[in-house]
This record gives sequence, C-alpha cells and structure tokens, in this order.
Amino acid sequence: MYNDNPTLNFNDKTIDEKKQGDVFFKEQIAKKDQELTKKFYIESYGCQMNFSDSEIVASILAEQGFSSTRNLEESDLILINTCSIREKAEDTVRKRLRIFDKVKAQRPGTLVGVLGCMAERLKTKFLEEEKLVDMVVGPDAYRDLPKLVAGAEEGNKGVNVFLSREETYADISPMRLGTNGVSAFISIMRGCDNMCSFCVVPFTRGRERSRDAFSIVAEATELFEKGYREVTLLGQNVDSYKWENPETNQPVSFAHLLEMVAKVHPDLRIRFSTSHPKDMTDDVLHTMAAYENICNYIHLPVQSGNTRVLDLMNRTYTREWYMERIEAIRRIIPDCAVSSDIIAGFCTETEEEHQDTLSIMSFSDYSMSYMFYYSERPGTLAARKYEDDISLGVKKKRLQEIIRLQQQISFEHNQRDIGKRFKVLIEGDSKRSDQDFCGRNSQNKMIVFPKQEGLLPGQYTWVEVFEATSATLKGKIVH
Ligand code: SAH
Ligand code: SF4
Ligand code: F3S
Repeated sequence: MYNDNPTLNFNDKTIDEKKQGDVFFKEQIAKKDQELTKKFYIESYGCQMNFSDSEIVASILAEQGFSSTRNLEESDLILINTCSIREKAEDTVRKRLRIFDKVKAQRPGTLVGVLGCMAERLKTKFLEEEKLVDMVVGPDAYRDLPKLVAGAEEGNKGVNVFLSREETYADISPMRLGTNGVSAFISIMRGCDNMCSFCVVPFTRGRERSRDAFSIVAEATELFEKGYREVTLLGQNVDSYKWENPETNQPVSFAHLLEMVAKVHPDLRIRFSTSHPKDMTDDVLHTMAAYENICNYIHLPVQSGNTRVLDLMNRTYTREWYMERIEAIRRIIPDCAVSSDIIAGFCTETEEEHQDTLSIMSFSDYSMSYMFYYSERPGTLAARKYEDDISLGVKKKRLQEIIRLQQQISFEHNQRDIGKRFKVLIEGDSKRSDQDFCGRNSQNKMIVFPKQEGLLPGQYTWVEVFEATSATLKGKIVH
C-alpha cells in the first residue's frame, strides 16, 4: 500500500481497429499521430492516493493531446509523483531524479516535473536543489499542469503548490494506469485534518475535504460498466467523510456512502482505506455486515499499543479504545480481517511501551501490517516538540521484533484458512505461473489456484484453501 520503490504504472494503448482492408492506412495515420503528439511518462511513489492522483494527472494531460508512454527514453515529459512520508521515500525520489538528468542530457528538450507530496513540502526549494527540474506541482494544482508545461517549453520554470480547500477533481474521469481491468481506486476525499504528530501529510495535502457523493457513485457505475468488479474508496481518514447534498441538505456520512456504492451492483466489490480508530463507527460496521459486496476487511492502523506514546503521537485514542474497536469488529463482522500500520521507536518510547505494541498486535490478530521505524519529518509537531532520541540501532531492533511477530501472526491467521472455502474475484495470472490464477477473498487475502477452462479475470469463483504461508494461500476451485 505504501511504496518506497520505483513503480511504473501505465496502460497500453488499446488498438481497436484491427479490421481488414484499411488497417495499413490507419496504422500509418496512427504512426503519424504518435509522432506528432507529445509523450509523457509518469512514475508514482507513496500511498494509493498518489497512484490515484497520477490517474487524474494522466487524464488532464490526455485532454491536452499528450499520449502516454512506458518508455522513459522516448518521453517528452517525465513526471514523478512523490512521497514525503519517511526520509527513505524522499531519498528514492532524489535517486530517480539523477537518472532523469541523464535522460535529459541525451534528449535535450525533455521536461521533468515533480508532483505530489515532496513537491508540496519543498516548494521552490526543489528548483534550487535540483537544477534540472522544470516544474514543481503540488497535489491540488494538477489542473494547472498544461499551463506549466507550456511555460516550461518556453524555458520558464514553474511552481504551483497552492493548497485548496475545495479541490476534489470530482469532474475528472481518471485515466486508469497499470490496471488489471478488475480493480480500481476511487478517491473520495483529500487532505487530512488530524495532525498526528509524526505525520507530514496534513502539510503536504492540506485540509480535509470530501468529494460529491454522486460523482463517486457515477465513477463506480462507469467502472462496473467497463468490466471492473472491485473499487477501493480512498482517503486518509475515510470515516470522517462528510458531504452535504446541496439539493436536500441531507448529510452523507461514510456509512451512507458505502451503502450508495454497494448498491451500484451486487457483483461490484467495495473496499476502502484508511480507517482511523477514533472515527470508525459501529454504523460503518453494520453497513459492512449488511452488504455482502462490501469486503470484510479493515485497515485500522494502530501505530503504537501504548497509551502514553499514542498521546505523544496525537492519535487521540487510547490502547483500551483501540481494543474496544477491535472487539466491535469481531462482534459485528465475525469473519472480518484487520490490518495495521505500526511505527517502532517513536520519541521517548521505552522498552516496556514497545512491548505494549507487540501485545496489541497479538490481541488484534492482524492478517498483515505495514511496519516502519520512526523517521523524523521536518516541520511536523513531533519534530518541533520532541527529541528523536531513540537510536537507529534500537529502532531497527524493535522493528525487527515487530516484523517477526507479524510474520508469525500472519502465518497462523492463514493456517486457520486451510479447509475453508472462499468466494474469490479472479485478478489475473499468478506471478509464478500462467497455469494459475490469483485473486483475493473478501478478507483481502491473495489466493493462488489452478486455472479452469471458461473462467476469466473479473469473474468470481469459489476456492478451497489447502496450503498457506505467511504471505499467500493456495487452493483449488470448488463448486
Ligand atoms: N492516514 C493514514 C496513514 C497515512 S501515512 C492513517 O492515519 O493511518 C501511512 C503510514 O505511514 C502511517 O500509518 C504511519 O504508520 C506511517 N508513517 C507516517 N509518518 C511516519 C514517520 N514520520 N515515520 C515512520 N512512519 C510514518
Ligand atoms: Fe497522517 Fe494522522 Fe492524517 Fe493519517 S490521520 S494522514 S497518520 S495526520
Ligand atoms: Fe506519501 Fe503523500 Fe501519500 S506523503 S503516503 S504520498 S499522502
């Protein structure tokens, strides 16, 4: 879900004119068009929101006649959508910029644009630090990209890092990148108002705002009609989604929204991320229980299992509150899987407090977790108020313990699935073999199983699990 590694995301252009006769002629025109249109290349880092934003950027550029390419060397415009969440994420981006510099040297005239959270955090400093960057564009300024590109073509470097209180890109139909044609992301809100003390997101993404509920339903409907069978509703804190229907003045909560999207079609699976423990209501859980197509899976980041540390983190819940939320999930959706984000070695964390994190992991029985050691981010509350006093060695040791425990919990979690039957949405060939399909069950676990004639990606099938590691389940189709 969070990605510090280079990831390309691109759609192959569909060729839909393969009829005989005029094929040659059309291909010649297409070739000429391709030579005339400018090509952009985009790489994305960070969370799903960033990947979703890249699809909005691609759509804005396509409107202006740009075509997409996966080939860095043939691009006229190189874009990198960046993440600032940890120092490592920013280091990766800087390394990629060195590579882009080389491409630029070989192909003078190629433009390089930095988008996303790192652009927002560093603003004009980027142009000073990275001499070959032509554009710096923050997450709320993507509509301005065509203008900034045109300016850069004239030799004027451009920066737009204006953060908006309204922008949700609701009217833009994202161009799906790197898609399997089965699952897609839908951004339902932007920004974050929470101010967790370790986190840079409120500074890079600005104030929280929710997107028009009808535009979300329309996007889900369009995706379903195009053959997609799973949508993931995205926001930094989906439970605080709040939108008012201007015609009726009726407020729409996240639970309402989930219901509206679930009603698009029973064969469209709904997932969402991320839930905040302080805001996740029983209403949401009851809605999940009421609709079979809302998946039984919640990403509920705990960050720490100790109340004093949670307080320093400004998470605004206690260990007990979090445990009660886990119990509510078990009560209302007994077969729901829960995953988490965990930070090791936050400022002043003691060994005993670290043990509290380990014990809450066991209590919560996470199917999986994203685990990190604390990385101080400039400008955050923690950077200003607390000393980053846990040594790197201790942070790494605690993180290792967390990872080891999670592997064990995941393994046991998966072992319990042996012999169970799950409804699986087929996503495509498994990574290892084109004889096998892979797909997820409602609990978001990947299951690999031998193909069967007549079945295709995007269809549902029932699979019985017979083998499990800490990462994957293996099964066979049952009827
Ligand atoms: N909105 C989500 C998380 C977004 S950031 C939420 O509230 O849970 C994704 C994850 O990165 C966080 O959950 C946290 O575990 C981790 N993270 C954020 N800032 C960090 C930092 N400074 N150091 C280490 N990990 C961090
Ligand atoms: Fe960051 Fe906290 Fe907002 Fe998540 S809820 S994005 S961790 S400030
Ligand atoms: Fe990174 Fe920005 Fe997402 S900092 S995690 S890309 S919101």
